[in-house]
Amino acid sequence: MNSTIEELKNRFEQALIAAFGQDLAGTDPMLVPASNPKFGDYQSNAALSLTKKLGKPPRAIAEQIIQNLDIADICQPPQIAGPGFINLTIQPAYLEGQLSQIQTNSRLGVPTAKHLQRVVIDFSSPNIAKEMHVGHLRSTIIGDSIARILEFQGYDVLRLNHVGDWGTQFGMLIVHLLEAEPVSDYDLLDLGDLVQFYREAKKRFDSDEDFKERSRKAVVALQSGDQEAQIAWKILCDKSRREFQIIYDLLDVRLIERGESFYNPLLPLVVEDLEKLGLVVENAGAKCIFLEGFTNKEGQPLPLIVQKSDGGYNYATTDLASLRYRIQEDGAKRIIYVTDAGQANHFSQFFQVARKAGWIPDDVAVVHVPFGLVQGEDGKKLKTRSGETVRLRDLLDEAIARARTDLENRLKEEGRQETAEFIANVAQVVGIGAVKYADLSQNRTSNYIFSYDRMLNLQGNTAPYMLYAYVRIQGISRKGGIDFEHLDPDAKIILAEETELVLAKHILQLSEVISQVEVDLLPNRLCQYLFELSQKFNQFYDRCPVLKAEKNQQTSRLVLCDLTAKTIKLGLSLLGIPVLERM
Ligand code: ARG
Repeated sequence: MNSTIEELKNRFEQALIAAFGQDLAGTDPMLVPASNPKFGDYQSNAALSLTKKLGKPPRAIAEQIIQNLDIADICQPPQIAGPGFINLTIQPAYLEGQLSQIQTNSRLGVPTAKHLQRVVIDFSSPNIAKEMHVGHLRSTIIGDSIARILEFQGYDVLRLNHVGDWGTQFGMLIVHLLEAEPVSDYDLLDLGDLVQFYREAKKRFDSDEDFKERSRKAVVALQSGDQEAQIAWKILCDKSRREFQIIYDLLDVRLIERGESFYNPLLPLVVEDLEKLGLVVENAGAKCIFLEGFTNKEGQPLPLIVQKSDGGYNYATTDLASLRYRIQEDGAKRIIYVTDAGQANHFSQFFQVARKAGWIPDDVAVVHVPFGLVQGEDGKKLKTRSGETVRLRDLLDEAIARARTDLENRLKEEGRQETAEFIANVAQVVGIGAVKYADLSQNRTSNYIFSYDRMLNLQGNTAPYMLYAYVRIQGISRKGGIDFEHLDPDAKIILAEETELVLAKHILQLSEVISQVEVDLLPNRLCQYLFELSQKFNQFYDRCPVLKAEKNQQTSRLVLCDLTAKTIKLGLSLLGIPVLERM
């Protein structure tokens, strides 16, 4: 099923051809949702944009388009406004028909995307032996939502965790580990707090020249496949991996780990190929690539270093190798990197190098999806009360604990009794959902202030508000003894009241929103859509009796309720948030 806007676009294209000839085939009808409901639902600016080409006044062009426009089954007669806008208002009968169609459709009428290719999403990607921080939390939440949306559209999504599991920092960690425990005892080894372990190693590295030298040797040993070094490295990775997994389980996020070490054997060839292409310039022993548009404050060119003077490779070299691998071996047609905006330069640099090298075919898109910082309520970097970095696990546990307190207070006020299992489940879904939703509902490019109070508020654009809207609708079915699963599939939908029409139109816009997110990768659009949906639902529910309505109207309104609930459930699932039947 085409979305309404798609269908209208098709009809406009036909009208343009009928009015002005084949020349205009493929012309963009410039159809957008109306800026104000008083202008109707959609507006086309085609007449204005064609004035020059056709050499006629826009109103005359608009007249001619309308004469050839066959949309009587969808819209009321089109209106020309202002200098030549064409305003369209959707007919209730059309909306009724569309709603009937999606009533029994598990995708709620959302079509799959047109060209179903492989998409790689590189997200989360924390660093081994370091704490996963809020930046990684954002990447995990945003990346997962984008993955869910593209998967829902039918794309073959490869969710890659590009963990930082390679590099010179492993030298000091390995030496610190080897000197603490004999290799034979590794099975029993408890590294305690890995972050503490990292700090200790770093301290020795910075203060002890001898240790530093041993660390350097350990890096070489690791890279040449030395068994002891390899075992130590694996231990460190395993231990980190288990820590990360706790967070992924809590967030219900799936990832395939393919860390930096995976591409290690491919790095020499990357540099060799770049050299063959004549892109590499040696500078004080380092292999550099100079690029347009990258200079330091003094205006000196800032090169991308692909191999250091000691022979070591860089973050960017690995990214170049992984880019090639993803295109050649994984067959990716779109590669999406979700990281903090601070890495924007890194991405535009290595994209530029890959382009110069001819490694990005025309049919492959590479995109950096940047996001802003998470700040504390003081507007500064998020810290604990004692001034330390916030551990993700503590942050998520705190959200769950607060959701539980809110719930227990509410239960007391309402005099309700619930089982311990119920309370634990609601607290978990609300707590985690609130953290995710708070992150996703902001335009990702801006910074946002982390506030438990705001994200757990039952009012406003929050997860609890959305979950509650869903629960409220399930309450209607319980109260009326109605099984939403068995509403008459042939029930006639009647849209008589203004609030019913407004709600119906909104429900039918889901596929437009999803195809927008497919393009601009901004999940906050979906949050905004869902928020407006529940507001429109509440307005409808305030004005229109449902259970007390007469029979036909009752069934029709129940279908509206059910479709609203299903849309919320589907929308939230695309944000990685499950619904609750009661809360
Ligand atoms: N490990 C990096 C970090 O913590 C993120 C990696 C992002 N992905 C990539 N292909 N560079 O900042």
